[in-house]
Amino acid sequence: MIAALKRYYWKYVDYWWCRLRLGLKDPKHAHEFRFWRKRWRDEGRCLRNGHYERLMLAMAGEPDQSFLQDKTVADFGCGPRGSLCWATQARERIGIDVLAEAYKHLGAARHNVRYVRSTEQEIPLASGSVDVLFTLNAMDHVHNLDVMCGELLRILKPGGAFIGSFNLDEEPGVSEPQTLTPELLEAHLLRHLDVSSRRVAPTGPNNTYEYFFTPAPPGASGPRKLWIRGRRKQELKRGGG
Ligand SMILES: C[S@@+](CC[C@H](N)C(=O)[O-])C[C@H]1O[C@@H](n2cnc3c(N)ncnc32)[C@H](O)[C@@H]1O
Repeated sequence: MIAALKRYYWKYVDYWWCRLRLGLKDPKHAHEFRFWRKRWRDEGRCLRNGHYERLMLAMAGEPDQSFLQDKTVADFGCGPRGSLCWATQARERIGIDVLAEAYKHLGAARHNVRYVRSTEQEIPLASGSVDVLFTLNAMDHVHNLDVMCGELLRILKPGGAFIGSFNLDEEPGVSEPQTLTPELLEAHLLRHLDVSSRRVAPTGPNNTYEYFFTPAPPGASGPRKLWIRGRRKQELKRGGG
């Protein structure tokens, strides 16, 4: 009985609280916020962020954060945890998220990071204003892949570093409307980069990124992750995405 009531609460009451109290009219946004609010409660009314340094440095293929020295560093679809709190050598750290305002209810206001609320159509940052742009586990969450890829390329300086992790092959859902493939990413994003590193690994069963750190067992199958590091080309190619 209690378990059934809890399920009911999470399914309906909490969802509508997010939609009405925070004004999250888009079901995708309410669903996403509700996911993070549950994590926040489960972790003791806080959200841990200690894993991002190792993860983001591994994505970048860097031993330490000195490559961020005096740079403007941003993370697109950063979530509420404080994904850039570790990047203390950067000149400026910017967390970009469509839920940036709502995440202040989950402790984001205390981070030493500037949060910027993007929409599903635009990122309110000047063109060419970011030196190093991260994104992880976010591009399958956007409604308009072509538009948001265009926005990422616009805010990144020509020659600036793009460091991304993409969830490939996943079935679409309420929070993840996109099924990403290497071809789709090539058409909208990667062809505008000089890619220096491209790694693919199956999604791990415990830690989703574990097979970037330890070899995957032979025959591992299912959805994959793609890690890309590249530089934005000086001129963006026209047409075709
Ligand atoms: C699964 S979370 C990933 C959070 C973080 N990058 C991580 O890996 O821990 C996806 C994030 O993308 C954000 N997002 C979805 N659509 C977006 C958009 N159009 N613009 C900016 N952020 C968006 C969501 O609000 C959510 O915080």
